[in-house]
Amino acid sequence: MRIRKYKSGDNKRISNLIRKCLIEINSADYTAKQIKFIWKEVSPSKVHIKFASRNSYVAVEDNKIIGCFTFKDGEIGNVFVNPRFHSQGIGRKLMAKAEKVASQLGFLSVWVNSSITAVSFYKKLNYKKKTNVSHKDGGETFVMKKQLPK
Ligand SMILES: CC(C)(COP(=O)(O)OP(=O)(O)OC[C@H]1O[C@@H](n2cnc3c(N)ncnc32)[C@H](O)[C@@H]1OP(=O)(O)O)[C@@H](O)C(=O)NCCC(=O)NCCS
Repeated sequence: MRIRKYKSGDNKRISNLIRKCLIEINSADYTAKQIKFIWKEVSPSKVHIKFASRNSYVAVEDNKIIGCFTFKDGEIGNVFVNPRFHSQGIGRKLMAKAEKVASQLGFLSVWVNSSITAVSFYKKLNYKKKTNVSHKDGGETFVMKKQLPK
């Protein structure tokens, strides 16, 4: 597995990957209506707009995109790993890369807006829960923060 920068043309595969996670994983913690809302937000064109305007990376194995993240203004976002590759340390490696990118850009701390689903994952990586974010559609996410080593 290697991690490389996002390039235009990755967006369709990233959209598919995120949508797969939404259906197979995040649907355990969010209603069908909430999942449908996010589904629309991660269309290939919206993924491109988001990923092209941030420091964005993908994890690649055998020419397949199996994970991704974005970084901008202290926020690590869009952290998704293809469910077939969960629990193999890929999420941890993506987060290590994201924190390195943040450090190199001079950030002393980073934050995530975590799904209910990923809170335990971020806790494992020493992110501390700060605030709950209640969304209009009734969904909830959690802002979690981590100080980076100097
Ligand atoms: C959250 C996510 C990125 C983790 O990716 P992953 O590749 O499976 O994570 P890793 O294998 O690197 O796990 C790192 C550590 O976190 C732990 N962990 C991962 N997911 C966990 C979970 N849901 N609950 C508890 N612990 C978890 C692992 O056990 C591992 O601990 P260890 O190193 O001590 O064994 C992945 O589950 C995912 O894509 N989830 C759906 C999308 C999502 O909610 N993303 C976050 C958006 S904010």
